[in-house]
Amino acid sequence: MRIIKVSNPDVGAQRAFEIYEDALAKGTQVLGLATGATPIKLYEKFVDSSLDFSDLTAINLDEYVGLTPQDPQSYHYFMQQHLFQYKPFKQTFIPDGASDDIEQAPKAYDDIIAQHPIDLQLLGLGQNGHIGFNEPGTPFNSTTHVVNLTESTIAANARFFDNPASVPTQAISMGIASVMSAKKILLLAFGEAKAAAVAAMVNGPVTEALPASILQEHADVTIIIDDAAASKL
Ligand code: GLP
Repeated sequence: MRIIKVSNPDVGAQRAFEIYEDALAKGTQVLGLATGATPIKLYEKFVDSSLDFSDLTAINLDEYVGLTPQDPQSYHYFMQQHLFQYKPFKQTFIPDGASDDIEQAPKAYDDIIAQHPIDLQLLGLGQNGHIGFNEPGTPFNSTTHVVNLTESTIAANARFFDNPASVPTQAISMGIASVMSAKKILLLAFGEAKAAAVAAMVNGPVTEALPASILQEHADVTIIIDDAAASKL
């Protein structure tokens, strides 16, 4: 794991942006993208830049079950708002949380990932160490699957919803094996609330109880953390 410690999230976003500049210059074709508050500043930098994504493919990590792409709380909507409306990609994929066949949707997504192997996967970090929506206990060999969200994740994500009771309780997420299949991984974590998960991810045992700990076994992982997120290292 390469750890880049920065003084604040703005500097972290800038360092992350430079990694993308370099990756695109070297011919990266498929970006694995993430949602949540953490990547927003990075996406702002993409929007303000001259980077051209029009020949690239984007594959997002996850989506809530039961929300249509038009729902302002959906991750489809998030990506449109923060990035895709300003920076068109050749093609973009996000799990279909509104599918009539919620058992088949993960399989369809695995086929998409197989057809478009991810060059650079962006990750945030849940306070409980989740990546994507892979909650503690998710098997390391998991591919895309339907997830029952934990109470702590529902509570953490309630801040994005006007009515906390309307936070979905399920999501479709790329699995741990799907994430690990990316050639390169870039994880961003900022703030005190992430400090315990960061410490366990970097120094703890590799265990399904802390999904991000599997990243210790990936050959090309970069982690950008600010001082607050690094405070328990
Ligand atoms: C959600 C997302 C994750 C994200 C995590 C952290 O649960 N599914 O992909 O990394 O929350 O979110 P935030 O960046 O808002 O702290």
